[in-house]
Amino acid sequence: MKLTLSVIKADIGGFPGHSSMHPALIEIAKRELAKQKGKLIKDFKVLHCGDDLELIMTHSKGEDSKQIHKLAWDIFVKGTAEAKKLKLYGAGQDLLKDTFSGNVKGMGPGVAEITFEERKSEPVMVFMADKTEPGAWNYALYKMFADPFSTAGLVIDPNMHGGFTFEVHDLFDNKKVMFKCPDEIYDMLALIGQPSRYVIKNVYRNSDKEIAASSSTQRLSLLAGRYVGKDDPVMIVRCQSGFPAVGEVLEPFSFPYTVAGWMRGSHHGPFMAVGFEDATPSRFDGPPRVICAGFQLANGVLEGPADMFKDVSFDLARKKANEIADYMRRHGPFEPHRLSADEMEYTTLPGVLKKLEKRFKKI
Ligand code: F6R
Ligand code: MG
Ligand code: MG
Repeated sequence: MKLTLSVIKADIGGFPGHSSMHPALIEIAKRELAKQKGKLIKDFKVLHCGDDLELIMTHSKGEDSKQIHKLAWDIFVKGTAEAKKLKLYGAGQDLLKDTFSGNVKGMGPGVAEITFEERKSEPVMVFMADKTEPGAWNYALYKMFADPFSTAGLVIDPNMHGGFTFEVHDLFDNKKVMFKCPDEIYDMLALIGQPSRYVIKNVYRNSDKEIAASSSTQRLSLLAGRYVGKDDPVMIVRCQSGFPAVGEVLEPFSFPYTVAGWMRGSHHGPFMAVGFEDATPSRFDGPPRVICAGFQLANGVLEGPADMFKDVSFDLARKKANEIADYMRRHGPFEPHRLSADEMEYTTLPGVLKKLEKRFKKI
């Protein structure tokens, strides 16, 4: 029987400010999901990354299930009521609509879902980020599934040697394109090197078209037409036996590469892989964080989570991230620390230009 793993997340209020999560919201989510365990869902786990509430669920309803999405939506609505009572910051921030209309996509929350036949042993990694955007996964997914200098299996595992196909979405034009790799990596890199626009949605194994990875791709600012916070994406990756090994899936995060987000969704900064306890972006509202929950699935039961980035082997990456954060911060309001004008989520620029309109003289 096919199993679906759904990760649905939203920022429904921060504590304090945008830095972390109030325990009351976690409790509400756990309580509500527990009521459905063994009924609508097989199993669940609730985590947070910064100010984002992360619902991880297994079930047999398939992707885009109205029942599953409504379950998540109702939890976010209940959580928002509590967030308002506690006067948490930005209560209900990611709920862009008042009433549920069948699917949380386009309503604010982020979603990553994959459906598959559970293998003899099914290790999966669930990545969750705060203070960045969906394109933040592009670099990591490329390294995992297309870079032999990162993933040794692409060269030496016969089950991976055939490569992977990437489904890339254009978030501005609502279009998608498939790239069969390694044949088409140069074309693909031309696009995914612009992660604000082109985002890797899914990855499939070439030999049998099996789903390997999926990410959340909504952009709140594009949905709402105004600044409503960064999208703080999630991603699911299947591991081992013809997919990258757990260690190959984690390896890209040993380098704190630059992502967009951080303070006011308007700055570049290092992507810092941390343990669950350290998913509390505070310095300059950051730097952007990523956590990874590792699971072994056992007939839909989520054995875990294992806190994958807690491992000391990521200490050096964190140290480097802090050094890069220092270096970037010294730029203050200068690019490329500050995002370019069209990418900034907050801007006074049109207002400043308007004010100066009459003072500008022809040169
Ligand atoms: C970034 C983020 C925060 C806020 C910042 C200002 O995604 O959520 O950095 O942008 O704290 O927040 P406001 O405008 O609500 O005071
Ligand atoms: Mg927030
Ligand atoms: Mg957030």
